[in-house]
Amino acid sequence: MANSGPHRRGFLNFLADMLMSVIALIVAVPVIGYILAPLRRKTESAEGAATFLDAGPIADFPVGQWRLATLEMIQEDGWKKTRVRHSVWVRRQGETAQAIAVLSTICPHLGCPINWHPDQSQFVCPCHGGVFSAEGSHISGPPPRSMDSLEFEVREGRLWVRWQDFKIGVAERILVSV
Ligand code: FES
Repeated sequence: MANSGPHRRGFLNFLADMLMSVIALIVAVPVIGYILAPLRRKTESAEGAATFLDAGPIADFPVGQWRLATLEMIQEDGWKKTRVRHSVWVRRQGETAQAIAVLSTICPHLGCPINWHPDQSQFVCPCHGGVFSAEGSHISGPPPRSMDSLEFEVREGRLWVRWQDFKIGVAERILVSV
């Protein structure tokens, strides 16, 4: 009986520690969830970045000409939201969706914006003189591959383009995560 005091005190201390741990866990889980929420949102946004973006009415693209179109998206980084614009080259050769071509303006060499030169019927990169055909195929200069074509859909008379970034400086088309 003389030894039961310290034993009981030890047991009560153990119970108190366990109780405090459980309470700390209950408080910590929502706090950690709140802190990590932006990271989760960023991941969702990265997946969303691969969704289709509105490039405007099809009728705005004259048949047989390359036209620059702007895609707008909201990029989330933690709590910060940024409006990001991307440019794409669009040409339609007829009334059907099969007659449409969409190319990224980003040069696959080092990422400069590629220009269309109607007088030469060629795309030319102003940075190091990369030249591409009217279909976007590589003709000459340092770019290691042709211009990157982008997926698109036509919905109710509007063009929707799936914006994607590809690795620059390499011959293969490798998707870069956003
Ligand atoms: S970045 Fe286009 S040719 Fe170098």
